[in-house]
Amino acid sequence: MSRKIGIVGSGLIGRSWAMLFAGVGYQVVIYDIEAKQIESALVDIEQQLKSLEKNGLLRGKLNSSQQFACIKGTNKLEEAVRDAVLVQECVPENLELKRKVWKGVDDIAGPSTIFSSSTSTFLPSLFSDHLKNKKNIVVSHPVNPPYYVPLVEIIPAPWTDPAVAKKTRAIMEEIGQTPVSLSKEVPGFVVNRLQYALLNETWNLVADGVLDVKDIDKVMSDGLGMRYAFLGPLETTHLNAEGFVDYCDKYANTIYSVSKDFKPLQKWEGPQVGEIAKQLENMVPKDKLQERRNWRDLALTKLSQLKKSLQ
Ligand code: NAI
Repeated sequence: MSRKIGIVGSGLIGRSWAMLFAGVGYQVVIYDIEAKQIESALVDIEQQLKSLEKNGLLRGKLNSSQQFACIKGTNKLEEAVRDAVLVQECVPENLELKRKVWKGVDDIAGPSTIFSSSTSTFLPSLFSDHLKNKKNIVVSHPVNPPYYVPLVEIIPAPWTDPAVAKKTRAIMEEIGQTPVSLSKEVPGFVVNRLQYALLNETWNLVADGVLDVKDIDKVMSDGLGMRYAFLGPLETTHLNAEGFVDYCDKYANTIYSVSKDFKPLQKWEGPQVGEIAKQLENMVPKDKLQERRNWRDLALTKLSQLKKSLQ
C-alpha cells in the first residue's frame, strides 16, 4: 500500500498536517503555487520539529531528523498527487479556488486516492460535484493548532463512498488525531455549530450588559472550559446527576425555560463590534497577538500532556 501523502497548500494548516503525517513515517510531498512558500514551509517545519524534540513535545514514532527526512517540497502538483494514498488540500478558504484545485488534482489522481479537504466552512458537495473521482471526497476539518488539538471532523458529501470516509478515519487515528465521523454534511459541521451557539449567546449577554467581555470569557476559561477539556457536555450531565435519565428528570424543565429566555439571533454588526473589539484589545493589544498565540500553544501542549497522563 502507498505510504505517500500529498499536501496541497503549504500555509499554517498544510505545515501542521505535513508534520503529523511524517510523524508516523508517511512520505509527505508538499505542493504550493508559491515557490517561496514551499521553501519557507520546509525551513519552518524543520525548526518546529527540532524545537518540539528539544522540549520533549515531539509527536509520532520517529525522531525529528527522521520525520523531516519524510517531507519533500515540489512546485509540480503531479509530484504531490500521483500515487498518493491521500491528498490533503489546504488552500485558502475560497470556493472557486477549491473547485479549481480539486479539478487539477482529479485530472492527475488515480481512482483510489482519497481527496481530503481542510475547509472549515464549505460543504464537500460544493467543490466536488464536477470531479470524476467525486466518490473519494471528504472534508477532514482540523482544529487550530492541529498539532496540539487532535480533533478532526470527517464529513462526507452525499456521493462519498462510505469506505473512503472509513479509511480516512483510520488514517487520522494512525497519525494520533481524534477523528469524529459525521453521517452527512451539515452547515458548520459540528465544531462550528457548537461554537456558534456559544458565540451567539455571548453576543446577546454582552448586548444586555449582563457581563463584560473579560468576565464572559472567564466563564469558559475558568469555568465550563475546565470540565469540557476532559468531558463532553453530555457526559457532564450524566455525572452531574445519578445518570442522564435522572439529569433529565431534574433539569429538563429548567433547561427548557431558561432556553426560552434566549434572545433572537442577531447579526454581528453595528456599534457592539467596536465595543467588543475595544475590550478585547485592552486584554490583548493587537501587537501582542502572536505572543498570546504562543502562550496558547504552550498551554495546549501542557494540557494535552496532562490528558495523556490521565488516560
Ligand atoms: P494559509 O493562507 O496559511 O495557506 C494557504 C496556502 O495555500 C498558501 O501557502 C498559498 O500560497 C497556497 N495556495 C494558494 N493557492 C494555491 C493553489 N492554487 N495551489 C496550491 N497552493 C495554493 O491558509 P491556512 O490557514 O493554512 O488555511 C488552509 C485551509 O485550512 C483553509 O481552507 C482553512 O479554512 C482551513 N482551516 C484553517 C484553520 C486555521 O485556523 N487557519 C483551521 C481549520 C481549517
